Parts: sequence; C-alpha cells; structure tokens
Amino acid sequence: MTVRNRVAIVTGGAMGNGKGIAEVLASQGAKVAIFDKSDTLEETVRELSAKGCEVSGFKTDITDRANIDASVAAVIEKYGRIDILVNNAGVMKNLPFLETGMDNLDFHIDINIKGPWNVTQSVIPHMVKNKYGRIVTIASVTGGFVDDGGDMSYAITKSALIGFGRCLAMEFIEDGITSNIICPGYCNTPMVAKEAAEERPEDPSSFLDDLASSLPIGRLGKPQDIGFLASYLASDEAGFITGQTIIIDGGCTLPETNLDY
Ligand SMILES: NC(=O)c1ccc[n+]([C@@H]2O[C@H](COP(=O)([O-])OP(=O)(O)OC[C@H]3O[C@@H](n4cnc5c(N)ncnc54)[C@H](O)[C@@H]3O)[C@@H](O)[C@H]2O)c1
Repeated sequence: MTVRNRVAIVTGGAMGNGKGIAEVLASQGAKVAIFDKSDTLEETVRELSAKGCEVSGFKTDITDRANIDASVAAVIEKYGRIDILVNNAGVMKNLPFLETGMDNLDFHIDINIKGPWNVTQSVIPHMVKNKYGRIVTIASVTGGFVDDGGDMSYAITKSALIGFGRCLAMEFIEDGITSNIICPGYCNTPMVAKEAAEERPEDPSSFLDDLASSLPIGRLGKPQDIGFLASYLASDEAGFITGQTIIIDGGCTLPETNLDY
C-alpha cells in the first residue's frame, strides 16, 4: 500500500480522527500538512514529528476561503504538489429540532459543508494539473444511515457530504482523481468526550462506557481505525475505487432488531 512520499492535506488533524489519519498517513511515509484552527496544532505537530513523521501544521480556519488559499499556496511552496486531501474537520452541536435556530444550522453548514467545498475547490486544480489525486471525505453514519434524534443540523450536513463526495468522483474521474466517503460510527475523540460531558456531566466516563457497550463490537472506534481506512483509500493501489461510501462503525448499523434472542 503506497502513500510514500505523497503529499497529503488533512483538515482538522490537530486532534481526534484527523490526528489519527495524519499519524497513519505519515507513519506510512506520506508528507502530511495539517490544516487546523486549534491552538493544539503546534503540539500535535511536535508530537507526531517526535515519532519520526514528516508532518507540518498550517493554522487554517476552513470557513475562511482566503485563509485556505494561503495555506494551500504554502503547501505548494513547501512540497511542490498535493496528492491527497482528507476532508476531516467537522463540528457537532446538538439540540432538539424545535429549539434549533438558523444560527445552529448555519454553524454546521459553514464548517461541515462549505469547509470541505472550499478546501477541495482550492486543492483540486493542483491535482488536475498532475492528473493524480485521492480525496477522502469524512462524513458519518449519522444522518445517512442511522440517527438517535436531536442532531438535525449535524445529521443533514454529514449526509450531504455523501453527495458531495460522489459528485466529485464523477466530475474528476478523467483527471486521475478518486473521491470516496468514510462514514464512521462512534469514535473516542474530543468531540465525543464533549458530548459525554454534556449528556452526563456528573460522570462522563460512564457515558463513554455505555456508548461503547451499545455498539455490537463493544468498544468505540479509535482515530487510527479511521486512519488506516483513509490511508488505504488514499493509496496508489486504491485507484479503482471511487464514489464509494464506506461505513466503519463497529457494527452499529448492523443489527436488524434490538431484541436479545
Ligand atoms: N468522533 C466520532 O464519533 C465521529 C463519528 C462520525 C464522524 N465523525 C467525523 O469525524 C471528523 C472528526 O471528528 P472528531 O470526533 O475527531 O472531532 P474533534 O472535535 O475531536 O476534532 C475536530 C478537529 O477539527 C478542527 N476544526 C473544527 N472546526 C474547524 C475549522 N473551522 N477550521 C479548521 N479546523 C477545524 C478542530 O480544531 C479539531 O482539531 C468530523 O468530520 C466528524 O463529523 C466523528
């Protein structure tokens, strides 16, 4: 599986799934540029670099097109090319539907949809020029496949990314660019830790334990689980896979009923 010496951008790679994706890509020899707006970006770059990874950080807010274009130009200046884009950065702020205002919807649309849109639009000309590219977009099982309610804005923006990834696949198929969508189930990341703290402030870790045991596999996903799948889809060898939506969820979409036979 080859990503060696490929140049990859991973959005939202300062923590959580994006950090796992950046780590796996870099450990397999890719040169990874992390785009993130978090102050933890530098610490993550230091931590991964100390493991021998070729990783650099570009402070970027994916809601800001000028900021994105400047970071993409800086990656080109540093590495001369972009082969892989992982659209991972995303947010979730849940509310009951009847209490969900346009501010909440716009917040999710701006980051979860317009973010990947703008980053991809900025990156793709560099892939077209080289007639090579691998785009991996992180959606979710939420919305497109399952839902527990109370997360309308998150669910609809995540399911929209499936259409986004498929449309890219078709439009750029003659340019040597593949586009695939990963739909994770619950993973152990700061996003889910925050949800646990909100849902059960008196004992967040018991909420995480309950979440884990509610999955057929009995554990939460690890960011590296998502990283290995993203890395395969980003590899040279995955060139015949495009427009596909791949679920990685420890079996959460599997049960036909919740009866205990
Ligand atoms: N954790 C899960 O259970 C789970 C399940 C399904 C899908 N996902 C998806 O995986 C992706 C990563 O989720 P996570 O759980 O690691 O989240 P997280 O909150 O732990 O990390 C998200 C990262 O994105 C960055 N980010 C947020 N807004 C940004 C912006 N405007 N510009 C640049 N960077 C920004 C944050 O700074 C952070 O580093 C998201 O797209 C999420 O929807 C997560």
